[in-house]
Amino acid sequence: MTYREELCIDAGSENCPCLLAQSGDCVTCGRLQGKDCRDCHWRGVCIYNEYIQNGRQINNRRTCQKTKILKKIWYGEDLVVLVLEVSKGFALKASLPGSFVFLKTPGQSDCYSVPISVLRADPEKGQLHLAVKVIAGKTKSLAEAGEEIELRGVYRNGLLGVSKVITKKPQKVLCITKGVGFAPAANYNKWAFGKDTVDMIIDLDKINQELVNDYLVDYPVNSIRYEALSPDFCCPDGYDTVLILASDYYTGSIQVPEEKKVRSNNFHMCCGEGICGACTMVDQDGNSHKMCKCQMYEF
Ligand code: FES
Repeated sequence: MTYREELCIDAGSENCPCLLAQSGDCVTCGRLQGKDCRDCHWRGVCIYNEYIQNGRQINNRRTCQKTKILKKIWYGEDLVVLVLEVSKGFALKASLPGSFVFLKTPGQSDCYSVPISVLRADPEKGQLHLAVKVIAGKTKSLAEAGEEIELRGVYRNGLLGVSKVITKKPQKVLCITKGVGFAPAANYNKWAFGKDTVDMIIDLDKINQELVNDYLVDYPVNSIRYEALSPDFCCPDGYDTVLILASDYYTGSIQVPEEKKVRSNNFHMCCGEGICGACTMVDQDGNSHKMCKCQMYEF
């Protein structure tokens, strides 16, 4: 696998400049890395200028907020949807495709933080729905949380190639999901409802039909096919964009032209801020990239 251009998902956003500007490691701006202006990778705003003019402040650092759990909806014994009370602005940001947040139970150390894709964001009601598959210590702790939980976000880099779906132009899109990969598909589908024509192929492994019904009933898709993914899975033709929301095994083996492919970002996330290095990917030239921040395109 080879890679080309690297884009920071936060560049030019309200969360830019970030902690990486402070440490001289900005993914985008060469000057903030100690190089010259030729390496600026212009993203519509001068990050160096923003940083210097603001007195070397970072913008809107994401911090943990205690958040009320409005409801827990269990789907079987080990899958729970947490419905959280958030501000309308937070929900609006979380409604964008590729959004995820970090959750942990109050009082636990930061190593209990779990990245969770947004299943549904409801700006009108100020609510966030997050599906948690209960597997081990961290997710058990989330499922057992009482009235409150600590929320950090919104983070944007849950889908690699997300610019292919964040378009104004209507398109024909196929979502192939396995397990909780259904969550980012449901969030995208709500965002794109009335614009894109969406077909889904859903592998119900580790989730269940009831969850799918509940999160598609208000925003029905054009068609749904249920199928267990396998190494011989053959992706249908005729789509402008194909989202593959499954493990790397499937994102790598399902044949889709690269210019049409959007895939779940399955790199390990810890801080989400480009600091800890948990998500580091080393490319074919030996350069490392922080995949919590970077959109890397393979070819
Ligand atoms: S998750 Fe910490 S650097 Fe990416």
